[in-house]
Amino acid sequence: MKEIKNLINITDLTTEEIDYLVRVANDIVENHSFYDEICRHKKLATLFFEPSTRTRLSFEAAMLELGGSVLGFSSANSSSAAKGESVSDTIRTVGCYVDIIAMRHPKEGAPVVGAQRTTVPIINAGDGGHFHPTQTLTDILTISRKKGRLDNMTIGLCGDLKFGRTVHSLIEAMMRYENVKFILISPEELRIPDYMKEKMDKAGVSWSETSDIEKAIPELDILYMTRVQKERFFNEADYIRLKDSYILNLEKLEKAKKDLTIMHPLPRVNEISVEVDDDPRACYFFQALCGKHIRMALILFLLGIEREGFGK
Ligand code: NCD
Repeated sequence: MKEIKNLINITDLTTEEIDYLVRVANDIVENHSFYDEICRHKKLATLFFEPSTRTRLSFEAAMLELGGSVLGFSSANSSSAAKGESVSDTIRTVGCYVDIIAMRHPKEGAPVVGAQRTTVPIINAGDGGHFHPTQTLTDILTISRKKGRLDNMTIGLCGDLKFGRTVHSLIEAMMRYENVKFILISPEELRIPDYMKEKMDKAGVSWSETSDIEKAIPELDILYMTRVQKERFFNEADYIRLKDSYILNLEKLEKAKKDLTIMHPLPRVNEISVEVDDDPRACYFFQALCGKHIRMALILFLLGIEREGFGK
């Protein structure tokens, strides 16, 4: 039987596979016509039990641009989950209709449960405060396009490092590259979980923690801002107290490097002031575009489809 490849955690991909996806994403831009019909008669389901704009729509745009089609739902309320159906029954059913599934769920581990019940590839499009591997692929493509490398850099991650799944997945991926250092900028209450610190220590990665963004900024090659994850808080008063801990503006960027890359998975609330959007270092909307290209590459990879002659 053919082995089914899923993407649950970014560690499901080797560094070589990530490099391959980046090359395919770049080839898609350079040679778009080769890919126009490559997924004809293939179907993608996007099953989103949690809100999304970029992730869901970029997956859908990706499949449509590959010549395939798309079906799915954008909230748990419009699926049988509202009637009490389990995730595994939903996935097992949808697996009868499509060739590949991208799913987002508020419960950590839901995509693993789903993957056990179907024979089509499952892509984790975000599970609770856990992982978000396709955002990480998006981030890696953005960094590689902006910096021309993935090694030898200092990455500042700022905001909600406790619940921010994009941060957890990005660290897991970037710590594999040579001489990548992390500066973790957050309020005390939103520090990165211990299991992530253990992973970095085990990998011998250099990291430090601070709550002072201004002190950290001059050292950074990448500044990755994140939203305080309101939906994961147990107590609204805590959210209100912490939500505006960091607001990046032009004044704070005065001492930043000229070639700093400012990223954000989006949506932003207040953490980047709109005046920063016109600064040439602001890359978050470019990042959203990269999300479509890398998801095109990922769909092809998981379906085992290749442009003729494009070697792994
Ligand atoms: C992120 C997410 O859903 O984790 N958004 C995204 O997928 N681009 C970040 C967030 O919601 O803050």
